[in-house]
Amino acid sequence: MAIDRKTLHDSTKLTHLQEVGLPSGNKAIVSPIYQTAKFSPGEGQPFSSQSTYTRVSNPTLRELELSLSELQKTEDCIVLSSGMAAITGALLGLLKSGDHIISFRETYRPARIFIRSTLQRFGIRSTILKVSDLPGLEKAITPDTKMIYFESPSNPHLEIADIRKIVSIAQKHKILVMMDATFGGPHQHTDLGVDVFVHSLTKYVNGHGDVIAGSIAGKKTVIQEIRQMAINLGATLDPHAAWLVQRGLRTYFMRYERAAATAMRIAEFLSSHPMVKKVYYPGLPSHPGHELARSQMKSTGGILAFEIDPSVGEALAFCHRLKLHQFTASVGSAETLICPTLMFFGDDLSPEDAKEMGHNPYSLRISVGLEHADDLIDDLREGLAGKAGH
Ligand SMILES: Cc1ncc(COP(=O)(O)O)c(C=O)c1O
Repeated sequence: MAIDRKTLHDSTKLTHLQEVGLPSGNKAIVSPIYQTAKFSPGEGQPFSSQSTYTRVSNPTLRELELSLSELQKTEDCIVLSSGMAAITGALLGLLKSGDHIISFRETYRPARIFIRSTLQRFGIRSTILKVSDLPGLEKAITPDTKMIYFESPSNPHLEIADIRKIVSIAQKHKILVMMDATFGGPHQHTDLGVDVFVHSLTKYVNGHGDVIAGSIAGKKTVIQEIRQMAINLGATLDPHAAWLVQRGLRTYFMRYERAAATAMRIAEFLSSHPMVKKVYYPGLPSHPGHELARSQMKSTGGILAFEIDPSVGEALAFCHRLKLHQFTASVGSAETLICPTLMFFGDDLSPEDAKEMGHNPYSLRISVGLEHADDLIDDLREGLAGKAGH
């Protein structure tokens, strides 16, 4: 029923606005943000939480889910409030007490610790292997094994998992394969048989360092199982954040390709520098995973790591010497980011594992942004020469 606004007090008018729709047949080129917690179903429409509450469903979130699902060639997708919400939501949605999960030491530390400690509290057993240990993977499978969960390229030293082999072992035993594909982005690894992709959209997908978000993509039936769990856990993405991620996606390919091209130039520069002992970038032929990366990736991306000669100083001091590289964790911003890799390891790893994985105070990770490659290389050159920037 129409309201007679003339009869209303000002405070009532301010809570019941005069709605402005578009002229009939017109549309907004950029979708509006449904920045609302609630919807009111029209007369004759079903009254359910699906149609009335943003924690359950919101068109701005759904648009982003459809974009990501299409990009990853999956049947469906759900977006959540962070990459960790996506990882934990998928694990809790798909596993139950008595199940066994196999994962790897080369996995994002909070995810690995959640698998090792939190899942264990709910009666879910885990085995953590090296990602290259395929014979060990096959041996670790038991009748209870429900999921193999891995990351590629991995953090911080960009190890490349042999995805085809992991998938083939999993399929032989009818086990679900879940991959954290954050570093490679949602346009890659889509044709290798992975069942479920999780992403931190905080990184290259949003691309501007101003949003925390995550996603899970896979078959409709799998996402439906997870969605119910995610709705109850309540890790809903805010509509404004979802809209920002959607905006970031518009320039995703340009940003990713630019960062990858610059990363290759930086990797080549560092490889030829006498004060650099080691460079980890899968685009370099010297990287142990180079051939594997070429066979399963379209682009080796914008993240690389390297180890400086101890005479240059420790990684932390080196970070503070740089002018353009911003010292911080995280990856996938417009600005180039740098940090010591020590922070990525974690106490749950044995000293032998950590050593084998490159744990040392001289190692750094760079996430390449959108600056000119020459400027970034000059900044690194000066840092390596020992000139203080700040
Ligand atoms: C590979 C990877 N996966 C997952 C995450 C978690 O994402 P978020 O910080 O959005 O929760 C991160 C964060 O750094 C990451 O690097």
